[in-house]
Parts: sequence; structure tokens; C-alpha cells
Amino acid sequence: MEMNKWNGKAYTRSYYEILEKRRSLPVYAQKQEFLQCLMSNQTVILVGETGSGKTTQIPQFVLEAVHVDDAGKNPRKWLVGCTQPRRVAAMSVASRVAEEMDVAIGEEVGYTVRFEDCTSSKTVLKYLTDGMLLREAMTDPLLQRYKVLVLDEAHERTLATDLLFGILKRVLRNRPDLKLVVMSATLEAEKCLEYFSGAPLMKVPGRLHPVEILYTREPERDYLDAAVRTVVQIHMFEPPGDVLVFLTGEEEIEEACRKIVGELGDQVNVVPLYSSLPPAMQQKIFDPATGNRRKIVVSTNIAETSLTIDGVVYVVDPGFAKQKLYNPKTRVESLLVSPISQASARQRAGRAGRTRPGKCFRLYTEKSFNNDLIAQTHPEILRSNLANTVLTLNKLGVDNLVSFEFMDSPAPVTLGGALSDLVDLGALDADEGKFGNLTRTGEMMSEFPLDPQMAKMLIVSPKFNCSNEILSISAMLSVPNCFIRPRGEARKEADEARARFGHVDGDHLTLLNVYNAYKQNNGDSNWCYENFISHRAMKSAENVREQLVRIMSRFNLKICSSDYTSRDYYNNIRKALLAGYFMQVAHLDRTGCRYLTAKDDQMVHLHPSCCLDYKPEWVVYNEYVLTSRNFIRTVTYIRGEWLMDVAPQCYHLNNFKNCETKRVLQKLSKKRDREGNPK
Ligand code: CDP
Ligand code: MG
Repeated sequence: MEMNKWNGKAYTRSYYEILEKRRSLPVYAQKQEFLQCLMSNQTVILVGETGSGKTTQIPQFVLEAVHVDDAGKNPRKWLVGCTQPRRVAAMSVASRVAEEMDVAIGEEVGYTVRFEDCTSSKTVLKYLTDGMLLREAMTDPLLQRYKVLVLDEAHERTLATDLLFGILKRVLRNRPDLKLVVMSATLEAEKCLEYFSGAPLMKVPGRLHPVEILYTREPERDYLDAAVRTVVQIHMFEPPGDVLVFLTGEEEIEEACRKIVGELGDQVNVVPLYSSLPPAMQQKIFDPATGNRRKIVVSTNIAETSLTIDGVVYVVDPGFAKQKLYNPKTRVESLLVSPISQASARQRAGRAGRTRPGKCFRLYTEKSFNNDLIAQTHPEILRSNLANTVLTLNKLGVDNLVSFEFMDSPAPVTLGGALSDLVDLGALDADEGKFGNLTRTGEMMSEFPLDPQMAKMLIVSPKFNCSNEILSISAMLSVPNCFIRPRGEARKEADEARARFGHVDGDHLTLLNVYNAYKQNNGDSNWCYENFISHRAMKSAENVREQLVRIMSRFNLKICSSDYTSRDYYNNIRKALLAGYFMQVAHLDRTGCRYLTAKDDQMVHLHPSCCLDYKPEWVVYNEYVLTSRNFIRTVTYIRGEWLMDVAPQCYHLNNFKNCETKRVLQKLSKKRDREGNPK
């Protein structure tokens, strides 16, 4: 009997069944060619259509080769790492590959994503997000534990992958024994080839069938309704074959699913796919539909290239995705539903031709495709606030940004903005004209897997004697929304339940109330259910909090609370919030209904989800949301005079530009002077 060399057990039947399928994947035919290529080069670039087997097979090929090569040596030295831009993909693919190798997930095959490490000392193949590999490089600059690294989905050009390119170039020079495979789904690999000059390009021919593209004659007014209508028509008039619909986010997807079920009932199997869906539900997209029904997957961009769903014959593409946008003038980064690129549209269409000829229904006009869509999505590095990036690079020993080999260099004004934010946060010392050095605070900030503001808030929270509370708030801000808001009858009940947690000073403290109530009820799932609180979100918040506590302890940061009955209990928490998020402050304008952001005078409104039933003069906010209007979300009331105590560097009147906020601050400051030394 053949034994599984990874765990010494006999292979199960399903192993052989899956093996059959694996052998039919396009990459399988080029296994030897690939391994040869890898043997004779340090870096290999591999391009292959989505679904050709890159993500699941290539790391296994590599593993076999490395295993033979190094047999008998310390297995830890053989670690093969494969990066994914999305955590969902990392987790899902790791489970699939564990199944293919007939081992338990978390043992020989595992994954690491932010706040979750599912690996063990036995792990030889690890899928991880690109962000996690960057974090690992902070403590292991030469990535010594890896023998081979596979950077997957390079065409996505996420911020973290772009940084890894530059970091790995240096690592490869210092570690001749390390090998790198860069994998991409599109043929626009020239940039990559040029960047890794000398690396060979290997192509895996796709197995794509022709896809007929259909456009709408007129622009659609409501793409969600149009998408639902199109699905219904496909179901009524087209031959069997599954449908994949691209929408932009959880709410839209759930709504579309409800509407499709409303129209077609149980004639179809409707399956949603988005990142905050529980993993077991995510796995459902791979299940064949039951009883000869048509399967309809309604997904975010995850299904564009990260996950391949077999059996899709029809694609519905409304032409939108949630994308990160950055305005360097206001330094606001926001997620916005915006038109996709032509390249994305082609990828989406390609999903229809995997098993047989298919059709792609584009819910926009052909003219719009040609004239309105940009050719390629801009790399994320050109669409981001770079404060975190600068901090990360600094920690990675790249202290001269100008000499860093970016594949696409960010605009100097964006880098400049990031530097000045970091100086304001006290992470960099301000050397006029010169790139400042990381301060002790900056060092600590870079160790937290959080944005710099939140890290700063945690680091200073012991000074405000409320690190316990700030830890809970940070954890709650780092997980998906904990409030469940069902449709129909139950909605009112849910809103009432939510209101019971409401804190008079605002949303951050409301989140704290929820966390504390959850702990008082011992994390009981019934309690969550009765209060319309997501048990899953709360469990992750607990987990995140524990990890943050560990980082705090590593730096000997005190875990403490003020006396709950003291007058200052909540004031201290609000001041600590402000000590991190002082850049995200808004002031009520003269009309008394809108706010102006303090740093850049943008007009914003309180988000409808805000728990405040009055409009405080000053607020600190967690997030700036751009939709039909500009909203600030997760908002807490603060006092204007605290700004000058907590962030004097940023709110010093001398270097504040002339605007309404400055005038208000001037008044406050005069008042303080008159009153002597107020609290
Ligand atoms: O990376 P690439 O797009 O080239 O392909 P892949 O993700 O390795 O997928 C290869 C095959 O594995 C496809 O037929 C997928 O449908 C299948 N797969 C699966 O059945 N279950 C998963 N969780 C992941 C992939
Ligand atoms: Mg892939």
C-alpha cells in the first residue's frame, strides 16, 4: 500500500479521486518543465489563466522538489510559502490543498492571516496573506525559514505585494539559496519581467472556451436590479449552466440573493460569497448544486481571479467594484464603489469559459466599455495613504525611500503626507528636510498589525489609565460589524437591542459596552442571539484583544483601568482615543447640522448608524465613508480644548492653516488663557 509521506498514513480514497482531477489541470502538463526552470533560476515568473491550477498545484510541485533535494534535513528549513492578497483565498486554498495532500489543515499544510495562525511545527507548506509575509520580514529580515516563496496574484498589485517585490529583491541578493516564483493571471507580465530582469517567463496555456460578450443597449439605472433581472432571464431562456454575478459588497450581495430567491424560489441554489462570510459558508461555492438545480453564485471581486468556481457558464458583470481611492490633497483614503477596468472586465468574462463555451452579460454599453473604463486598474500603492507603508519600510530597514525599488513609485506628495503624519504621531523624529528616524514610539507602532493611529492610541492608553478599555475598543474596531440588522419585522427589534448598548458620548463607547456585556455574559451565544449581536464577530474581537494584549506586554505597557465610578473614567478613554485619532476630528459648522473635518475642511455628515441623538460640537471619528454623501462613521464626542493638550504638535495655532476650525480653536485658547489653568 502506498503511504502518505507527509504523515505516514495510508491514503484515503478521496485522495485518489482528487488526484485524477489535479492531473487534468493545465499546469500538470508542464510540471517537469516548471521544475527544471526553477532548478536553473533563482526567480521564475509564471503566467497562466485563472483556474489553470497555479495556486493549488505549483506550491505542491515546489514542495516535492525541495523535499527530494533536502531529504533528511530539518523539515523547518523546507518551508514553502505562498502569498495571497486576500485572507479568504489564503484560508480556502490552504484547506483545499490540505485535502489534496490528504493531511489535516494546520499540520503539514497551514495558513497565516492577520490575527489567525493555523500552522504548526510540522508545517511544510504555508499559505499566507502578502501582508503577513511583510510582517514576518520585520522579525526575520532574510526570511530564513523559507526555502521557496511563491508570490501569487502578482497582477493584482496590492500594496503589500508591491512592497514584497522590493524587499525580496534585496533578500534574494543576500540569500542565493532562496528561490522565488512570481505568479500572475494576466499576460501583462512585461513590467514584472523588466523588474526581475533575467528571470525566465513560463506560460501555461489556458483552456479557455470562447465567451460571447453581450452588452446592454442603454446604460442601466440600477445595476443591482438589472443584475437580478439578468439572472432571471438567463435561468428562463438559457440552457443549463451555473451563473456567477459580480457585485460590490456584503449588503448588496445579500439583497440580490434575497431578490433572486424571491423570483425563482427553489428552482435555483443561490450562494453568496464575500470576505466576512463564515468560512464554512464560503466553502459552499464549491459544492455542486443539489438536484440538478442551477447554481447562482453572487460574489465580490474574490471570484474574479482568487477563487475559481467550476461549472460557471454565465457571468453577469455590472462593471463595478469597491475600490480604495486616495485623495492626496485631503489625505483621505476611502473605499468607494467605482467602475472596474477593461482588464478586470476581461477577467470576469473569462470565468464563463472554463468548462465550455459561455456568455458574459455586461450591464453597460459597448461604448462605455471602450470609452469610460480605464485599461488597467491602478496599482494600490498609487491609491493609498502611505503612513503605514513608510512605517513598515522603516522597520524593515529601508530608511531611504528614494532608493527603494518600487515597481511603480508613489507620488512624492503622497510620501510627503505620510512622513508628516508619522512625525505628528511621534513615530518619526522631525529632521528638517531629511527622512526622520523611527522613534521608540514608532518602533512599537510598527509592531502592531494595525493602522498607525490605532497603534498610537494603544501605546499611550496606559498614560490615560485606560488601556483595558482601549484594548477592547481597538479589538471591536478591528473585526466586522457586530450588530446584526435583519430585514423586515425583526429590524425594529434589532435596532432597539442596539440602542440599549448606546452610550451618550458616542459609538466607540457603545462598542465598549457591547464588549463588556458580552464578557459579563461569558460569551454566551444565546445572549448574542437575543441581542442581535454577531457571536462570530465577538469571538474574533476576543481573539484580537488577546493578541494585542500580548504585544502590549512585550513592550511592558501597563494593562490598567480607572475607577469605573470616577468622573474621569470615560473622559480618560475619550482622551486616549483622541491621542491616536487626533487627525480624524470634525467640528460642527455654523449651520449646526454638518461637520467640517479639522485638518482639511471637508464637509461631512454623521453616518446614519451613529448612536448619538444630538450633534456635539467636536467629534473624533474612525472612518471617512464616501457614498452619495460624505459620512463619518463610528463617532465619539470630544472636547475641543483636549486637542491642544493631546496633540499640540498638530493643533498648534501657529502652524494651523486659516479656516473655520482655526478660528474656533483660537477662541478656545483665549478662553483657556483667561481662565488660567483649566483641566
Ligand atoms: O490559481 P489558479 O487560478 O490557476 O487555479 P487554482 O486556484 O489552483 O484552481 C485549480 C482548480 O482547483 C480549479 O478547478 C478549482 O475549482 C479547484 N479548487 C477547488 O475545487 N476548491 C478550492 N477550494 C480551490 C480550488
Ligand atoms: Mg490562483
